[in-house]
Amino acid sequence: MDAGNPKQRGGNWLLNWVEARVDLSAIRHFIAKKTVPMHRHSIWYYFGGMALFLFCVQVATGILLLLYYRPTAEAAFESVQFIVAEVEFGWLIRNVHSWAANLMIAVLFVHMFSAFMMKAYRQPRELTWVSGVLLLGLSLGFGFSGYLLPWNELAFFATKVGTEIVNDVPVIGHWLLLYLRGGEEVTGATLTRFFGFHVAVLPMVTTALLALHLLLVQSQGMSRPPSVEASEEPKRDMPFVPQFALRDLLGWLVILGVLVSLAAFFPWELGTKADPFAPTPAGIQPEWYFLFAFEFLKLVPAEVFSIEGEFLAIAFLGLAGLVWLLVPFLDRRSSRGLPSPLFTWFGVLAMIFVFGLTLVGWLHANP
Ligand code: HEM
Repeated sequence: MDAGNPKQRGGNWLLNWVEARVDLSAIRHFIAKKTVPMHRHSIWYYFGGMALFLFCVQVATGILLLLYYRPTAEAAFESVQFIVAEVEFGWLIRNVHSWAANLMIAVLFVHMFSAFMMKAYRQPRELTWVSGVLLLGLSLGFGFSGYLLPWNELAFFATKVGTEIVNDVPVIGHWLLLYLRGGEEVTGATLTRFFGFHVAVLPMVTTALLALHLLLVQSQGMSRPPSVEASEEPKRDMPFVPQFALRDLLGWLVILGVLVSLAAFFPWELGTKADPFAPTPAGIQPEWYFLFAFEFLKLVPAEVFSIEGEFLAIAFLGLAGLVWLLVPFLDRRSSRGLPSPLFTWFGVLAMIFVFGLTLVGWLHANP
């Protein structure tokens, strides 16, 4: 092929130019044959794409915030104040970053519970599920570490309370507290650590795991839920390009609309600068996505059968998280194509636990 005169090849000249140098046939073949199952639950397939879009928004706005943010106890609060008040469109970037973080976690919960209820974790998608649960954990880590960065009063005390809970983790609790805080107390050392987690460690690990998650999804294709597999209805599929991709794009536009409206009309509060010597204000609460765990810890009595309540509650949450992570290996019936009502009920109970306790926590905060 003559790659020297691209203009002669009209609109596709760029593609031809690239193809003359790189073999794109595998990608072409993949795109031509990739399809997505169509059935009454297909709507849930859009949430993974929305999460991906929001992750990209986080990376882009995070890099912009980094241009002015300063990670020290002396300068962090003032640098955020400067971003919001002085930097052109800084207020918008900060609001979008904060709102997109919350939307991403909300979308991830929907993505996870829908994948669970459609039993999308069953063989051969065990690793897609495991990588997904770890990605949710990492996203919660982003939320927890990012919350402290403005070094305002609310964030300071929420981090103090949050890291105190870590102290009750069996065996390694105190070591974990020292590791997170960089000492016995929440200080500038904690801020520097959280900054490191937030902008280096977590993005690196998340990007690697996300690549694995997406690679698995692409190589295995989307699953059909067992109820659709078993039904008499004819099985229908939709080409990924352009039909499904355009619908995905529509999902991105919808979430972008929601995001920009929230960012423009509901500015993210900055409050007052943290004062480590001030007493802990009453009613300190974590971000909404930690409320269910926080409420659960409060609900468990101080002592159960002479064992410390908080210890029991943390052990229970840890064990439940482990079972949730390993669900594809425990639900063997689903993988053999058999109904598994026990796991359906486990999913329903998990949703009631998370949403119910989040609501209780929210009602406590807003009586
Ligand atoms: C940053 C976080 C995540 C991103 C960007 C992401 C992205 C995606 C995308 C784009 C898909 C294909 C479309 C779809 O099914 O919605 C997908 C599929 C899937 N995801 Fe995620 N995901 C994330 C986290 C999670 C979590 C937390 C779980 C569950 C614990 C999970 C489990 C799955 C499963 C099982 C599939 C396959 C669905 C099927 O084949 O039917 N993902 N993910």
